Amino acid sequence: MSAYSDDIRNAIRTVADWPEKGVMFRDIMPLLQDAAVFRKLIDSFVHRYQNQKLDAIAAIDARGFILGAPLAYELGISLVPVRKKGKLPFETVTQSYDLEYCSATIELHTDAFAPGDRVLVMDDLIATGGTMLAACELVKRLQAEVVEVAAIIDLPDLNGSQRLKQAGFDVYAICEFD
Ligand code: PRP
Ligand code: ADE
Repeated sequence: MSAYSDDIRNAIRTVADWPEKGVMFRDIMPLLQDAAVFRKLIDSFVHRYQNQKLDAIAAIDARGFILGAPLAYELGISLVPVRKKGKLPFETVTQSYDLEYCSATIELHTDAFAPGDRVLVMDDLIATGGTMLAACELVKRLQAEVVEVAAIIDLPDLNGSQRLKQAGFDVYAICEFD
């Protein structure tokens, strides 16, 4: 692992048995509170995606918003928040999915992308991959292209990144936790 990803990984806190027994919660709040590490994080995503001719970032509710907004700003492209059910006022497309410890539904406005838009799907963490897969499904239903899915953290033991790759999506994560 490179020095920058070591700094990023070291800034993530693990909270055992939260929100329920058996879950090792990987908490990015200390990373966000460290201005230098947060800057390194966003700069590393800018470096990776600046020549990818992206049109939009689909940033997943809620921790994905924190990453997607500064990245979209820096790249000068559209920011599309993928929201949990019931928050978007206009016509939507909807997808339900299961999580490590619950289930959920996410939505996009039907006018979020133009057909053929090149989209990066962004979140803080990939666990089972259910959230990312649901978001990719929504992007595709709007006739846009998923260029890659990106996260800070992959939890490979939960097989999410593998599921995403098997579904045909390119996956990028800065660090892994068991
Ligand atoms: C967390 C995390 C990812 C998702 C990953 O979000 O931020 O979105 O779980 O899990 P998966 O790979 O098994 O789908 P959560 O739903 O807890 O929402 P939050 O960002 O609002 O805290
Ligand atoms: N979302 C799903 N699983 C998680 C975990 N272990 N830590 C932080 N966020 C999560």
